[in-house]
Amino acid sequence: MMNSLGRKSLLKGTNEPVDPRNLSDLEKRHLPVIDAPDRVETGKCFEATVEVGRLLAHPAEHQHFIQYLELYADDTFLARVDWTAARTCPKVTFHVALEVPAEELRANAHCNMHGTWLGRKAVTVVEAGGHQPTRALGAAP
Ligand SMILES: [Fe+2]
Repeated sequence: MMNSLGRKSLLKGTNEPVDPRNLSDLEKRHLPVIDAPDRVETGKCFEATVEVGRLLAHPAEHQHFIQYLELYADDTFLARVDWTAARTCPKVTFHVALEVPAEELRANAHCNMHGTWLGRKAVTVVEAGGHQPTRALGAAP
């Protein structure tokens, strides 16, 4: 599927960098950057800070601003924050705990002019004590 910029997107209407090693200014302004531990334990709370505009400042004006950001573990929704125009900065720290294995954290940031942008951060989820969890989503413990 092609997004509004005429580029291939993985998710309907969601933008990702064409070449992550050579970002355009548009990509730098919109890409959510996730700071989180590389490795977390199941059920243990950790911080995931997500910022839009870290690579190149995004406007924060009434006509052009980041409206919201959602955090996922793979496809599982974790949290969302909504911002107002001009009075907020698109940076937030979530406190989350993962109960099942996940391969990555995903952040969807939505700009009112340029659509939704996806940032990713690989994460390894281990059982307390350092072992890889073996139970599947929805399986009894
Ligand atoms: Fe924008």
